[in-house]
Amino acid sequence: MSLKTPKTILLGTGYHVPEKVLTNFDLEKMVDTSDEWIRTRTGIKERRIASPELTTSQLCTFAAQKALKDAGLQPEDIDVILLGTITGDALFPSTACYVQEKLGAVNAAAMDVQAACAGFVYISTLADALISSGKAKHVLAIGGELLSRIVDWTDRNTCVLFGDGAGAAVWSRAPGDSTRGVIDTYLKSDGRLTELLCSYGGGTNTPLAQIVAENRQFITMKGQEVFKAAVNSMSEAVELVLARNNLTGDDIDVLIPHQANIRIMNAVVKKTKIAEEKVYVNVDRFGNTSAASIPIALAEARETGFIKPGQLVLHVSFGGGFTWGALLLRE
Ligand code: ACO
Repeated sequence: MSLKTPKTILLGTGYHVPEKVLTNFDLEKMVDTSDEWIRTRTGIKERRIASPELTTSQLCTFAAQKALKDAGLQPEDIDVILLGTITGDALFPSTACYVQEKLGAVNAAAMDVQAACAGFVYISTLADALISSGKAKHVLAIGGELLSRIVDWTDRNTCVLFGDGAGAAVWSRAPGDSTRGVIDTYLKSDGRLTELLCSYGGGTNTPLAQIVAENRQFITMKGQEVFKAAVNSMSEAVELVLARNNLTGDDIDVLIPHQANIRIMNAVVKKTKIAEEKVYVNVDRFGNTSAASIPIALAEARETGFIKPGQLVLHVSFGGGFTWGALLLRE
């Protein structure tokens, strides 16, 4: 197997989730649902919900501090902070700037990237581009969400799916002869499908007061259309990255898919012929945390030894927009 020489290595990861656990049994008391329905349709048993005083930037800062420690770097070493979120602290400035201040990453440039659940694959691709082109040495990529703040807790179609959390990764310049690092990335979107998964709260199309009066400030979703598109797009991304690197599903050691729904993950592995035991799954404990989903899974999988040094790891994600993508990495 001869693969491209990586220019960007993964130096460290970390994640943070709020303490409060909301189980399916708790949800049974809030909306007309059941633990059995949620488990069989989604694979989710519980999710984490932030206390009211917690902000997205604080959650991201906790995750980033762990990633920096894991990488053996100081906040001052970071050249760029890229943050994927759909639930930032404010419309502007960017949540990345709040994180910069909280971390004391005084030498960094900071910005948010809005690519919904695909946010972490998007920002990691940008990190690789910045590092490969010599514009940055160390990039902090963070995915963080407080989805509990934009979920309608009376809508059983959506409120059972989401959770809060943040994950972070430090991407750094690889030594010249490195076999470890980012081998390939692929990004795609389809703006014709924006209406299938969206939230209008805080946007400028309609005044916020009107949106709130019409009760349209929450996540809305056409579940079955999203499901089909997620399976097709994530499978396409996996197949494309495998094909252009002359790999098959057998060559992949670990697949980190976006943790939206176990049925979506199972359908993707079936289509792409990757063995189920290679798939990292934590949707049962955290639900769908959007841009935080892959970096939380990645950090947890590295921490627990599910991912081992030298293994070939494929990240694949899909989200609102629609946006999707994949990243192939030698750990
Ligand atoms: N509890 C009990 N019943 C429910 C619930 C609930 N929480 N939610 C919906 N139902 C009902 C529906 O009202 C419907 O009832 P009806 O037949 O009387 O009309 C019935 O269950 C079946 O609903 P479906 O929508 O057909 O259920 P489906 O099997 O498609 O599962 C789900 C719904 C889980 C939302 C699925 O479509 C899905 O996972 N879609 C992907 C959505 C997703 O992951 N979005 C996250 C953002 S995008 C991303 O991250 C990839």
